[in-house]
Amino acid sequence: MSDRKPLISGNWKMNLNHFEALKLIQELSYQVTVDDMEVVDISVHPPFTDIRSVQTVLDADKLPFDLGAQHCHFEPSGAFTGEVAPSMLAKLNVLYVIVGHSERREIFGETDEMVNAKVKAILANEMTPILCCGETLDEREAGDAKTKVGNQIVAGLSGLSPEQVGGLVIAYEPIWAIGTGKTASADDAQEMCAHVRSVVAETFGEEAGQSVRIQYGGSVKPTNANELLTQPDIDGALVGGAALEAESFARIAQYRLSGPDAG
Ligand code: 13P
Repeated sequence: MSDRKPLISGNWKMNLNHFEALKLIQELSYQVTVDDMEVVDISVHPPFTDIRSVQTVLDADKLPFDLGAQHCHFEPSGAFTGEVAPSMLAKLNVLYVIVGHSERREIFGETDEMVNAKVKAILANEMTPILCCGETLDEREAGDAKTKVGNQIVAGLSGLSPEQVGGLVIAYEPIWAIGTGKTASADDAQEMCAHVRSVVAETFGEEAGQSVRIQYGGSVKPTNANELLTQPDIDGALVGGAALEAESFARIAQYRLSGPDAG
């Protein structure tokens, strides 16, 4: 057993206004127990317009969830209409920021260089990047999945120290499994997450490889969470659709209770 504490993250994407966000957080707080939080970390990543409201309720009710964001710019301030600076998120007690999600890469043209600049900016503001990587179906079928993912990791983490890399989170999300209901088999997900870990170890040393947390993402649901999250190199999940409903997200966070041996 590794001593990496699993991180279960809910990426709400462009869903839920701030009233709906507060309702979901309250419901989640009824479903998740203090015991759960001893064995997993849980982060929620609402849209920007919800973050201040969610922060206020997390603080006021002392709820044990970590606050996350889905995106930020890499510059500290300036004429970047529509963008949000990392320091603005840090000021709201945001702990984790998702970087390089495939939707941002594909729809908004984020490059590996931009992803790398964001990773550095997030670290400079004392938050933790969740660096996303993953292959398309064509790349998988052509046998290129490991090369694609390895290249994304090396480019995204370029210039970081082994200590910085050891403290961050990487999310392996095969693009063909996102929002499609198609999950990678537990064996395939494990194989790719082990590959990510070996790329980190080769590039930044064994210690960084052993301490970096690697999430799986792509159609994670209560019914498949146990099988995926008990794999040796999978340290949590980045959840989209199933994070929009308190019960399903809580059941994913409680994946230990739904395994083949559960009573
Ligand atoms: P789904 O869980 O909806 O497949 O989304 C995964 C994802 O993209 C999380 O970032």
